[in-house]
Amino acid sequence: MRGLILSGGRGTRLRPITHTGAKQLVPVANKPVLFYGIEALVAAGITEIGVVVGDTAEEVRAAVGDGARFGARVTYLPQAAPLGLAHAVQIARPFLQDHPFVMYLGDNFIPGGITAVVAEFAARRPDALILLKRMPHPERFGVAVLDGERVVRLEEKPARPSSDLILVGVYLFQPTIFEAVDAIEPSARGELEITDALQWQIDHGRAVIPHLIEGPWIDTGKMDDLLECNRVVLDMLPERREGTVSEDSRLVGKVILEAGSEVRGSSLRGPCIIGERTRIVDAYVGPYTAIYHDVVIERSEVQHAIVLEDTVICDVPKLEDSLIGRSVRIARSQRRPQAYKLMLGDHSQVELP
Ligand code: TTP
Repeated sequence: MRGLILSGGRGTRLRPITHTGAKQLVPVANKPVLFYGIEALVAAGITEIGVVVGDTAEEVRAAVGDGARFGARVTYLPQAAPLGLAHAVQIARPFLQDHPFVMYLGDNFIPGGITAVVAEFAARRPDALILLKRMPHPERFGVAVLDGERVVRLEEKPARPSSDLILVGVYLFQPTIFEAVDAIEPSARGELEITDALQWQIDHGRAVIPHLIEGPWIDTGKMDDLLECNRVVLDMLPERREGTVSEDSRLVGKVILEAGSEVRGSSLRGPCIIGERTRIVDAYVGPYTAIYHDVVIERSEVQHAIVLEDTVICDVPKLEDSLIGRSVRIARSQRRPQAYKLMLGDHSQVELP
């Protein structure tokens, strides 16, 4: 079996972070979210992996490389424009050839992995197997309607959903999917939709079967969901102390210190992770916080947040529920007039008390 990871797209919901970087590379507990997907495929025995890339191709290539560090072999598949998930399947055909494959959305996270579902697909050999999850408010998602062990209909963001089963971002296909993606037309939003390709398969008597997942599934395409993913992963990670801690600092709970990190005169309450060469000075870092590499947090309090590399946060009394990008400077100034001074990129969001 082969793997197909989708790492292109627009990422509009995660602006301004995605103005300058790939959303699939935003670190969750200090590791790009895309890496968890690659690891899930490798754990399921899939090591031939195609990665669909768009505008952020160079950045994704630089981060993932040839896949050797994951025990995989990665082939990059450039998509000229984000024309939909079924379009990504179309352009991947020369790579996928006649192999069955798993399509995995690069910004999705399934803590339970996909090993069991890959085994089920190999044993039952349907045309398609889709992962479903029960959701109290399914209106925002693709919804599947079942008749016993078969999927009989798919609804895309229905106003009145016929079921509470939503499609999560992992699909397993036989090469019969190529006929379907070639047969469908672009949707109203101009994309070739994978739900339309699946519906085409159902309408043409192909076997599309469901697999319900019980554990969590997170689409990290929005800030709140990224923070939630960060929380889930921090709860799972083992403690590691590779940094230095001064005598006058206090660490409570699971605090992960990466190599070269430094904590001075500070209070850290886990679960949290402090990245390589990052300095925490006279500060407080609270639960569910991931501070990436080369960051300085000084005389500030940060919790339930993700901070990307090379950022400096000084004299900020309380920062929480936040996603802070790369090389950001947040500081307090004594200069008059005392006012909020901001230089924010397009689509930034600031909430003031
Ligand atoms: P989405 O999150 O559905 O789409 P998007 O990335 O354009 O984001 P937004 O809605 O915020 O604008 O895409 C799911 C995953 O698939 C994501 O990792 C990006 C990837 N993708 C592609 O690689 N090619 C595509 O044509 C599309 C639509 C998505």
